Amino acid sequence: GVNLSGRSFLKLLDFSTEEINYLLDLSRDFKNMKRAGVPHRYLEGKNVALLFEKTSTRTRCSFEVGAYDLGMGCTYLDPSGSQMGHKESIADTARVLGRMFDGIEYRGFEQEKVEELAKYAGVPVWNGLTNEFHPTQMLADILTMKENFNNDIKGRQLTFMGDAGNNVGNSLMVVCAKLGVNFVACGPKDNMPEDELVKTCQEIAAQNGSTVKLTEDVHEGVKDADAIYTDIWVSMGQPDELYKTRIPLMEPYRVTSDVMSQAHDDCIFLHCLPSFHDTKTTKGAEVAKKFGITEMEVTDEVFESRASKVFDEAENRMHTIKAVMYATLK
Ligand code: CP
Ligand code: NVA
Repeated sequence: GVNLSGRSFLKLLDFSTEEINYLLDLSRDFKNMKRAGVPHRYLEGKNVALLFEKTSTRTRCSFEVGAYDLGMGCTYLDPSGSQMGHKESIADTARVLGRMFDGIEYRGFEQEKVEELAKYAGVPVWNGLTNEFHPTQMLADILTMKENFNNDIKGRQLTFMGDAGNNVGNSLMVVCAKLGVNFVACGPKDNMPEDELVKTCQEIAAQNGSTVKLTEDVHEGVKDADAIYTDIWVSMGQPDELYKTRIPLMEPYRVTSDVMSQAHDDCIFLHCLPSFHDTKTTKGAEVAKKFGITEMEVTDEVFESRASKVFDEAENRMHTIKAVMYATLK
């Protein structure tokens, strides 16, 4: 059997296929319990710290609600609300929080930092997004795929459109390789995942009977897709000036109804959110006005279509994050 007690959750490369499947099964169980109103305060008396150096809606709320449902206390430290990185090193922060809390969530910049936090904390550390990876997100994405494909996703294809070398693209490539889902990164060649990570994932995929491919050709990339996934074109921590060069590069990879129609009939649309499909949001409007465009990474039409499972996906963040906390703290 799988036992993740005491483990940190820093990147999916650290977990076996069996362990990832165990977390997904546990997530589904927690979702059923929540829906049925069955209490699951299995971790009463424990406390978790949520450390955010970047902003968040879903990840923060998933950890908070997940912790409360499990009977735990939790403390949120916002991007300016702790000494870490300003007056105190990561190693010291880790050792202090590790004395008070049973687990620590960390969202920040370099992957190295979350790894260092885990090295010194002495308690499980969960990666709530770094520049390189966003591993809790992928559990929700895969759970959503399973819900739409009869729990059987082996041999299905997920295509990531756009900025495929970002944290979300990287992590999707890893999880697909681990679970035998065919992965296609479809975007400009300079925005692809690093060669070394691609090679590693291709080896893992081969063991699980699937493939990892990169393409700049939209039709080639989406024609066999069962899920089309995209993310914003400029990630948190990157300068806004990047839009100037990114928009012309990324526009061919916008997820439109035409793109969806080239994929399999039952193809679903996924997005980690937040999305700029609605350019009326403050930031979206600012970018749209500055660069004279009305649509960003996905059209409003696709985002609001029946194929779009983005709000199931967002809900699943909570069930999956709860499963990660439970599995590592029990
Ligand atoms: N998808 C996601 O991680 O969203 P937040 O940035 O709102 O946490
Ligand atoms: N790639 C995005 C994901 C947000 C959840 C970012 O890092 O900003």
